[in-house]
Amino acid sequence: EIIGSIKGPLEGKKVIVTAGPTREHIDPVRFISNPSSGKMGVAMAKAAQSLGADVTLIHGPISVSKPEGIHSINITTTADLFEAVKEYRDADVIIMAAAVSDFTPTEIHQQKVKKAEGENSIGLKRTQDILAWLGEHKKEGQVLIGFAMETENLIENATSKLKKKNADWIIANSLNDKDAGFEADTNTVHLLGIDSDQEFQGPKKDIAIEILNTIFR
Ligand code: CTP
Ligand code: CA
Repeated sequence: EIIGSIKGPLEGKKVIVTAGPTREHIDPVRFISNPSSGKMGVAMAKAAQSLGADVTLIHGPISVSKPEGIHSINITTTADLFEAVKEYRDADVIIMAAAVSDFTPTEIHQQKVKKAEGENSIGLKRTQDILAWLGEHKKEGQVLIGFAMETENLIENATSKLKKKNADWIIANSLNDKDAGFEADTNTVHLLGIDSDQEFQGPKKDIAIEILNTIFR
């Protein structure tokens, strides 16, 4: 007797997940970054794979181990991440869990900057908003999932990101929730759609599965 394989809701789908922080170098020994651990992004990648997807994980310097059996691409800067994401712009689903730097130095010093007397300053310019770019170039049927990290007005700010970036879903995190945050194993999130708001709470790996099951059921 031949037993058919159990098909998950993402069977046959190409899913791109970005995870972790980016780094913007000031000089060879210093950079601008953030405390993202990559845990939520890696959990999303594993969850998508377990639901049958063909997953590519594009990640910055993460502090969790890379999931085995998932094709992964290592990047450093926001510009690197943008180039890597563009290669996969035709994916069925793109999940932007990366904590992307909003600014990059106007100048990268080739040598270590020596401490000078008195004050100093770093010139900054905006980086590409990758999710907004994906929203502008969204292909028919493609599902775009973003995250939002907020410290106040969670739903209002995250909903405005959903609309402004033309995303289909935003997973909204508040840094103020006691079990949430960059390095925690647990999270409290709101999954915001065009007309919906559902809350999920618990271990990041469980939340990831529940969110994908909710979106793709
Ligand atoms: N994002 C992105 N490119 C950027 C900045 C953010 O693709 N240059 C994505 C993130 O990966 C996330 C979403 O946009 O999926 C929201 O990121 P967030 O930092 O919460 O929002 P911003 O739009 O950057 O606004 P702000 O930081 O000012 O709140
Ligand atoms: Ca930001």
